[in-house]
Amino acid sequence: MRDPTGWMREEYDKLVEQNLNWRIRELQGPSAPTAKMDGKEVIMLCSNNYLNLSNHPKLKRAAVAAIRTHGVGSGSVRAIAGTMDLHLELERRLAKFKGAEASLTYSAGFTTNEGLIPQLVDQGDAIISDELNHGSIIDGVRLTKADRYVYKHTDVADLERVLVEVEKKNPKKVLIITDGVFSMDGDIAPLDGIVKAAKPYGAMIYVDDAHGEAVLGKGGRGIVSHFNLTHNDVHFEMGTFSKAFGVMGGHVSGSRDMVNYALNKSRSWLLSASHPPATAAACIAAIDVLETEERHVKTLWKNREYFVKGLQQMGFDTGRSQTPIVPAMCSESAKAVALSDGLFKQGILALPIVFPMVARDKARIRNMMNSGLTKAQLDTALAAYEKVGKKLTII
Ligand SMILES: Cc1ncc(COP(=O)(O)O)c(C=O)c1O
Repeated sequence: MRDPTGWMREEYDKLVEQNLNWRIRELQGPSAPTAKMDGKEVIMLCSNNYLNLSNHPKLKRAAVAAIRTHGVGSGSVRAIAGTMDLHLELERRLAKFKGAEASLTYSAGFTTNEGLIPQLVDQGDAIISDELNHGSIIDGVRLTKADRYVYKHTDVADLERVLVEVEKKNPKKVLIITDGVFSMDGDIAPLDGIVKAAKPYGAMIYVDDAHGEAVLGKGGRGIVSHFNLTHNDVHFEMGTFSKAFGVMGGHVSGSRDMVNYALNKSRSWLLSASHPPATAAACIAAIDVLETEERHVKTLWKNREYFVKGLQQMGFDTGRSQTPIVPAMCSESAKAVALSDGLFKQGILALPIVFPMVARDKARIRNMMNSGLTKAQLDTALAAYEKVGKKLTII
């Protein structure tokens, strides 16, 4: 007799056996530079809340005020009755912040990629991805009927090779798609080189700047600003409010034509409820903060430089990091797990990234820097790294 769902337990047991299952920790309070996790006070080195905006009084006040004036839910999808004045204001403010003609918000970064990418190319078209793109891009690409190609990570010469190969098939449309900042290594896509390579082929360019927003560019305006490009060069600047903006939600910026098309076609936009008013209001307040309080982004970079230097001076390999994502490379998975456990005992929360998220010999701890960390807290974290790193002979 078939057990209809028994296979799930078998699959789960296999994950446990290989030490590949997620053990969910409980955050008991806000996500902040110091936090309470599983009953322990920790210095947080693995939150995407880079600027600690999720705890900024302006964002909290805006969210509470929006609940008072607009309620807790939007009641509908955007296309029917769920577009509130707050949603439209957020899109106007975001477009201005990004220097784009128009912006469109989605419920999450994941649903932006999953909903929009499949609408941009179809059978007879070509889509060309960096080999290390984020899973939400990979899922979006899988939903297209276009021919798929991959180029070597951040390698513009290899992208050019692929473009030549693609052109031989005479596709109607070509879409090049890349992360802006790569989430496992913290390196930056060579967007200027990609734009240059794409121009002769009339290819569209889509960048997922989830980890570059409120981090790179003038005042945190993102990767397009970082490379002094425009939305005539980069046609889809996608991002998320869930990381440095400190709230939740995805978005895309570019031309008005792009936004008009995207909102009429993306199923994840048309068929999923809009943000609660508090979310939209907090995102608007995050833009206010970024436009008026430049210190957050500056401190983030200052902390990043201090922490990277500290790790490197004690002998850690920080991989390809160019941004506030700072890996501490450990090679074997077991070492990365042991380092993370040892750090936790010292009151530092920094999680291991192991196979299958990265190659078997590229296990690491992924640190995410935060503008809210003090020098004393960074020193505490570095001292813990030194102690545990030496004990495990990683350094
Ligand atoms: C590169 C990248 N794109 C998209 C996402 C998804 O964003 P969200 O959390 O808003 O769904 C993430 C989050 O992990 C990401 O790192």
